[in-house]
Amino acid sequence: MRKKVTIVGAGNVGATAAHWIASKELANVVLIDVLEGVPQGKALDLLEAMPVEKRDSFVLGTNDYADTANSDIVVITAGIARKPGMSRDDLLNTNFKIMQDVVAKVVANSPNCIMIVVSNPLDAMSQAAYKLSKFNRNRVLGMAGVLDSSRFRTFIAQELNVSVENVTAFVLGGHGDTMVPLPRYSTVAGIPITELIAKDRLDAIVQRTRDGGAEIVKYLKTGSAYYAPSASATEMVEAILKDKKKILPCAVYLQGEYGIKDLFVGVPCKLGAKGLEQIIEIKLTADEQAALQKSADSVAELVKVIGL
Ligand code: LAC
Repeated sequence: MRKKVTIVGAGNVGATAAHWIASKELANVVLIDVLEGVPQGKALDLLEAMPVEKRDSFVLGTNDYADTANSDIVVITAGIARKPGMSRDDLLNTNFKIMQDVVAKVVANSPNCIMIVVSNPLDAMSQAAYKLSKFNRNRVLGMAGVLDSSRFRTFIAQELNVSVENVTAFVLGGHGDTMVPLPRYSTVAGIPITELIAKDRLDAIVQRTRDGGAEIVKYLKTGSAYYAPSASATEMVEAILKDKKKILPCAVYLQGEYGIKDLFVGVPCKLGAKGLEQIIEIKLTADEQAALQKSADSVAELVKVIGL
């Protein structure tokens, strides 16, 4: 039987995630939104592209959670996006309210699903989904590290004029200004980038990665990035549906790993059929550990505001 993925939120991130998932034939897709007509129209349009794409993914748009029943994965993109000058944290209270409504309906209709949270501020919204759903921590994942490391990889590949396929990179921590790109664990064809890129250039690339979301918001003015965020969520969906045991940086509920407790923070995770199957603990230098802790502290502040 074909797998079923529900995407909550038919905005740019949600609709584009539906596009990637359907065009890779990973699953049937249900696109749901509170706006009437928008999920239906976008889903039907995407469905009508399937003969051209030679894919048999079924795509349904709806306002009714009954249509999402028994989804294998639910990707939550619902919420407002940033405008220029706003930080992800400015979205906290509005998106928390939306999250309360969404998670209750997701849990009621797909009690066994794996949730992937994409809404911002990412780590706090993931924590909200986890606490509200009462799911085990292996079934609640936040998408941020894949996106942040994809941006890092893009800039490294450009700097060295090499294929993006040659570049692996790690970004830890929260999805915010305090995220922690890890040059020491980032490589080009196995060679650490610290051997290939001068320190000042590398520092500039790290900073551009941290500001990657804001760079796009500044151009778009009316919203935030969606191609790379939705592609990143899709990579997580694929790793789970195909039980790939793929190691990707994801926001997960730490319970002592990396010295952090009861908090969602981005760390390397093995994703397979059960969702989070293992947290990979890598050795950090004192500076890296301090940067990760600082990032965790800023997530903890937000979580405190919403009382979780
Ligand atoms: C970004 C937003 C989606 O990083 O958080 O582009």
